[in-house]
Amino acid sequence: MVQKTAAVIPHVLTQDFLNSCVNGVTLSDPEYRRLSTCLFNKAFEDMTGYAHDESVGRNCRFLQGADRDQPELERSARSYQQQRAHRGHLRNYRKNGELFYNRLRRQTAFDNKGNLVFSLAFSMTSPGRSRLRKR
Ligand SMILES: Cc1cc2nc3c(=O)[nH]c(=O)nc-3n(C[C@H](O)[C@H](O)[C@H](O)COP(=O)(O)O)c2cc1C
Repeated sequence: MVQKTAAVIPHVLTQDFLNSCVNGVTLSDPEYRRLSTCLFNKAFEDMTGYAHDESVGRNCRFLQGADRDQPELERSARSYQQQRAHRGHLRNYRKNGELFYNRLRRQTAFDNKGNLVFSLAFSMTSPGRSRLRKR
């Protein structure tokens, strides 16, 4: 994690607080390797089967495995480039290879100079929409 993280993350975003959330929470810092995640909570570990140390510092795209033919990914990448929030459903895979549908809500946090300081995402498993299902 880069130095500013500890100073800028609001006090409420301690690991204890995040671990009490029932939804998966991930945080990425644009200054800390592009799109890499610097913080995960326990619910995200439970959802994916990956321990914190196995996920931290990686771009969450690893959860897509080889399943990269998803239109939502282009929207996700574009919104990130444009520093906008994003909502969408993605096909993701647990460590044991099991498919799950990740209902993702990503928010952007700016400092008072308008610089993007964090991207914060909330994940929950979803039954999966028919258009998302693999045939
Ligand atoms: C904070 C944050 C959390 C993310 N969480 C996930 C996730 O749980 N699953 C996933 O498939 N992609 C997730 N993404 C999206 C990917 O990092 C990436 O934006 C997406 O794969 C599209 O970009 P790409 O085409 O460069 O891979 C997350 C992105 C950010 C910034």
